[in-house]
Amino acid sequence: MLGTVKARWVFATVVFFSVVVSRSKPRVESEREKPFLSSSSSPAKSSSASEEPLVTLVSMASSEGGQEEFFTETTTDEGSRNLEYDFYRNSCPQAETIVRSKMAWIYGQHRNVSAQLLRLFFHDCFIEGCDASVLLDDSNGDKNRSIEKQATPNRSLKGFDKIDQIKEELENVCPGVVSCADILVLAARDGIILAGGPYYPVLTGRRDSTQSYFDVALEEIPKPDDNITHILHLFSSRGFSERETVALLGAHSIGKIGCEFIQSRVNNFTGTGQPDPALPLDLLNTMKLKCQDNANRATSNTDASQSSLSISSGAVFDSHYYQNLLRGRGILFADQQLMANRMTAQVVAAFASDNGSAFRMDFAQAMTKMSTLGVLTGSQGQVRSVCSLPVNSY
Ligand SMILES: *[C@@H]1O[C@H](CO)[C@@H](O)[C@H](O)[C@H]1NC(C)=O
Ligand SMILES: *[C@@H]1O[C@H](CO)[C@@H](O)[C@H](O)[C@H]1NC(C)=O
Ligand SMILES: *[C@@H]1O[C@H](CO)[C@@H](O)[C@H](O)[C@H]1NC(C)=O
Ligand SMILES: *[C@@H]1O[C@H](CO)[C@@H](O)[C@H](O)[C@H]1NC(C)=O
Ligand SMILES: *[C@@H]1O[C@H](CO)[C@@H](O)[C@H](O)[C@H]1NC(C)=O
Ligand SMILES: *[C@@H]1O[C@H](CO)[C@@H](O)[C@H](O)[C@H]1NC(C)=O
Repeated sequence: MLGTVKARWVFATVVFFSVVVSRSKPRVESEREKPFLSSSSSPAKSSSASEEPLVTLVSMASSEGGQEEFFTETTTDEGSRNLEYDFYRNSCPQAETIVRSKMAWIYGQHRNVSAQLLRLFFHDCFIEGCDASVLLDDSNGDKNRSIEKQATPNRSLKGFDKIDQIKEELENVCPGVVSCADILVLAARDGIILAGGPYYPVLTGRRDSTQSYFDVALEEIPKPDDNITHILHLFSSRGFSERETVALLGAHSIGKIGCEFIQSRVNNFTGTGQPDPALPLDLLNTMKLKCQDNANRATSNTDASQSSLSISSGAVFDSHYYQNLLRGRGILFADQQLMANRMTAQVVAAFASDNGSAFRMDFAQAMTKMSTLGVLTGSQGQVRSVCSLPVNSY
């Protein structure tokens, strides 16, 4: 338990530190504050934001055969203690600025990048920690070996190309210095800010894994049809409370849900051949309409499967996600399950009861915590020069 206590302390320190930092407005932080403040004071209800892609956080994971081990060994103590504020200040001082400006540029062309990277971030951190394992294309050239990114439902993760773009720019400036794991965490955070979400501090100094974890991902990524018991189990084995779990699922406030994720809820709920009886009829009809010919669409390769239809889950980091749950209008079965447990339902009600400020605060804290899960630091792991490939000489 000492680990947990320390982790809390570290986390509290980080939050406190970030508050102090933003109060005193040093150079880096005050720059970063602008997009956050301006977007939060005018929650961008732009139509463009509704073009963001599927987030579907649900489809994350925990670790097979030993969640306990995973958490105590790798998560808290080791990890967050060795991460640092502005780790690259000497080795690549422009690193965080480059990520931020590149993200702003990408976001200008693809609003959906925020939801894509948010989902990628969750998939990476939830499976064996934030180590960029989800970005690997194959294991040392063995094309037959299954890789983590293919374990996600219908291989629906996207945004790999965006990480590659950012990495390339960083490699031009500071070759071999900035890890893919840090890039993903920073880019996801910056994407959230660009989409009008809350700012949260990100420590850096993560290193990249040499392997990918297909089996773990397959086993432990929460599924769209998972029940609340299972969801809470997956999150608590990574140290998240009920409240934090509810806040993290709020990532579904933005993006789109691919039809493949609601297929069974709409057509064949728990094998009954009928829709989920709890689905309001109008919502069911909307889903059916939007996804009617989805069943005929072939799964194509990793990035392209999103030609499939999808349902928008919203565009802003406000309380609409929770208000929908209160009205029984969660899109995924797993979303609506948050109302099936007394404790999580209470949190949903609390988050629904204001303009989103409570949710945003909790979301920011839970994201900070998630970004330190199971990190490799110091001499562990490696720094890849291409995010999809392990360093060969290893
Ligand atoms: C993301 O947005 C771009 C440009 O707006 C669009 O071309 C692309 O199809 C979108 N991708 C997805 C997966 O929706
Ligand atoms: C990959 O799989 C193919 C077909 O199953 C097989 O012929 C080939 O030898 C395998 N390659 C490796 C490196 O295992
Ligand atoms: C919830 O899901 C788990 C795992 O899929 C299953 O073992 C359990 O029986 C389910 N619980 C309920 C109440 O349906
Ligand atoms: C519904 O699911 C069950 C169990 O997975 C399956 O046996 C049945 O054939 C499905 N029905 C339809 C109409 O797809
Ligand atoms: C996604 O995968 C599931 C199970 O593997 C399959 O039943 C479904 O048809 C797939 N959906 C799409 C759109 O490919
Ligand atoms: C939300 O409400 C709180 C208190 O009710 C207020 O302090 C805050 O400024 C509001 N935020 C937005 C974005 O409207």
